[in-house]
Amino acid sequence: MIYSGKAITVKADKDGIAELCFDLQSESVNKFNALTVAELKDAVMAISADTSLKGVIVTSGKSVFIVGADIMEFGELFGASEDEIAEHVLRTNLEVFNAFEDLPIPTVAAINGIAFGGGLEMGLVCDYRIMSETARIGLPETKLGIIPGFGGTTRLPRLIGADNAIEWIASGQEQTAAEALRCGAVDAVVTPELLRDGAIALLRQCIDGKLDYAARRREKQEPLKLNEIEATMVFETSKAFVAGKAGPHYPAPVTAIKVMQKAAGMSRDDALREEARGIAKMAGTLAAKNLIGLFVGDQILSKSGEKLAKKAGKVERAAVLGAGIMGGGIAYQSALKGTPIIMKDIAQAGIDLGLSEAGKLLSREVERGRMSVAEMAAVLNKIQPSLGYEGFGNVDIVVEAVVENLKVKQAVLTETEAQIRDDAVLASNTSTISITRLAEPLKRPENFCGMHFFNPVHRMPLVEVIRGNKTSEQAVARTVAYALAMGKKPIVVNDCPGFLVNRILSPYLGAFIGLVKRGIDFTTIDRAMERFGWPMGPAYLCDVVGIDTGVHAGAVMAEGFPDRMKYDFKTCQDVMFENKRFGQKNGRGYYAYEVDKKGRPKKIVDEEVAALLAPVIDGSETLDEETIVDSMMTPMCLEAVRCLEDGIAASATDVDLALIYGIGFPPFRGGALHYVDDFGIDKFVARADELAAAAGALGAMYQPTEKLREMAASRDTFFGAAASGRK
Ligand SMILES: NC(=O)c1ccc[n+]([C@@H]2O[C@H](COP(=O)([O-])OP(=O)(O)OC[C@H]3O[C@@H](n4cnc5c(N)ncnc54)[C@H](O)[C@@H]3O)[C@@H](O)[C@H]2O)c1
Repeated sequence: MIYSGKAITVKADKDGIAELCFDLQSESVNKFNALTVAELKDAVMAISADTSLKGVIVTSGKSVFIVGADIMEFGELFGASEDEIAEHVLRTNLEVFNAFEDLPIPTVAAINGIAFGGGLEMGLVCDYRIMSETARIGLPETKLGIIPGFGGTTRLPRLIGADNAIEWIASGQEQTAAEALRCGAVDAVVTPELLRDGAIALLRQCIDGKLDYAARRREKQEPLKLNEIEATMVFETSKAFVAGKAGPHYPAPVTAIKVMQKAAGMSRDDALREEARGIAKMAGTLAAKNLIGLFVGDQILSKSGEKLAKKAGKVERAAVLGAGIMGGGIAYQSALKGTPIIMKDIAQAGIDLGLSEAGKLLSREVERGRMSVAEMAAVLNKIQPSLGYEGFGNVDIVVEAVVENLKVKQAVLTETEAQIRDDAVLASNTSTISITRLAEPLKRPENFCGMHFFNPVHRMPLVEVIRGNKTSEQAVARTVAYALAMGKKPIVVNDCPGFLVNRILSPYLGAFIGLVKRGIDFTTIDRAMERFGWPMGPAYLCDVVGIDTGVHAGAVMAEGFPDRMKYDFKTCQDVMFENKRFGQKNGRGYYAYEVDKKGRPKKIVDEEVAALLAPVIDGSETLDEETIVDSMMTPMCLEAVRCLEDGIAASATDVDLALIYGIGFPPFRGGALHYVDDFGIDKFVARADELAAAAGALGAMYQPTEKLREMAASRDTFFGAAASGRK
């Protein structure tokens, strides 16, 4: 044994071939935590000291290669100054990764599974890379608001060309073995069984002088082979394209390109200096702080979900009642992810629609080359359409998605309860009706809960699992297990009007109603909120959701929280509804809709709307953009605070993740409660008081809770030390 640590071992065979194996003890995956980096340094020293060695293969003792840097450790490092971070990153590169790359013997990485971020960068310091056909590689750092820091922006362009490297790094996307081979990121792709022998064979060719590993290594250490014109073309064009795509709130992808551009003419070590400065700069951005926070929160959520799901066991068979927009989407998603599902409707037309929607989505997958026709047929076969209850005795869970009407739903649920096993779970996809109330006529209310999907089901990650007052933990666990099996992000919440997400959304739309009434043009509000980072402004959102759906949900919220969600005046929403401007669904709402060349609805300003709204506008205020944003965001954030205080969500993290996954809250802002922390709770409370005074009749939705005032006074935060105060 040449080296033996807790994360790395190095052994050699009789021919002088060393195997450096990553196998982090008491963890399910390998990652570059501080321990692993320190051990890599020691392992390289041990290899250097052994002159009998002729070459090194790098392997993993786990099913992954290395998943990347340990993101849990970022918080501490990123708290340091920009110079300190750059210095730390550079030192690690020079002393650890360069030391490995500069070993006097050839090196080959055997990439058996996931090699992301630091994992791929470890592969890149090797002279050659061989990859299992099932493995995936990539540099996802820009998705976390940072850039690669273990030499990724330096070595990847020198290896696969600037254009490919820009695409890999700016998109952060993972790559298949075929793509990696095509670009030249790896030298060979083999079946998993042949990987180790393949790596040794490659290494022997280097040792025997059949492959010129030194020349290969030099390519990564010299400037990029691009002339000035080529460099300008590739970097300038991609900067403009990527900046347009990422938008102003996500600076990392463009920064990565700038770093590669600046370093293009540099030697390896100078390029690494540039990279270290780039990552240090990104580490201090709001986007990095919140995207990394989001990643960590997501890990916590996944772990708790999986733990809960284990208690329930796998859902083998499911059923959905109603084959409409939601039922059809649920059937598609269930079948796509492998759980067979019965799709029941009372009308053949409904079933036909549900099946044709699923067919359309699958055809798109086939067209994009993500699925074969045979796979498509197999998915469709997992959806069993039905007008009756045949097969319901065998299902583990039934999701009800029929029309949004208490009486109809209660009748359907009671009827279904008589058809299913005593231990089967019944869940409702209601968007507004109380789960406790829906359970009233049921014989086994403990087996009943809410399972609230968001539209469109195949695209929106969130599923709220709603606990009624009689719901058992077993029913919650089974529903969470099913949501996970469907590839969704389940968040367990307690019952209340609007549940978690729509309850928090409601005062945001209330704020919109209030601003329109005060004379602020809705297109101005939309623009401000889109610049803030929302995928669409509130008026456009209402059009997409459907004005009728919004008005119906608004009435439920008004009944549930009359003090701050009931309006004693005619609102802009009422005007749209009365004029049958239901939004995108009938081509007219706040905006008018035309079909674009690709067949998608495109919004245009409709001059008629101003005249329609004029009677409900009783002010002519003009507000600056910051005031519009604060006026919109404050009631939403305060409702998020209330949901946490009322125990609707279990944690601040759950609240924030639900908003990001359910309604597209700007991820770089981290969610409503991160936003309040970043604003500074004391400043937020003071601003809310100011806005309450200006909001007149709608002042109640701007009132901070007593507890929030206490937090402001005691300088408390929702997320501890990570919160930084408003930038
Ligand atoms: N559309 C959304 O954006 C959205 C989002 C989240 C939740 N929801 C909720 O999902 C549910 C369904 O909404 P949708 O938009 O899919 O409605 P939809 O009108 O598109 O579909 C309802 C379907 O249920 C069928 N149906 C009616 N009674 C039935 C019965 N007794 N048995 C079986 N099928 C029956 C109808 O034939 C129809 O096909 C509602 O509770 C709604 O509030 C909707």
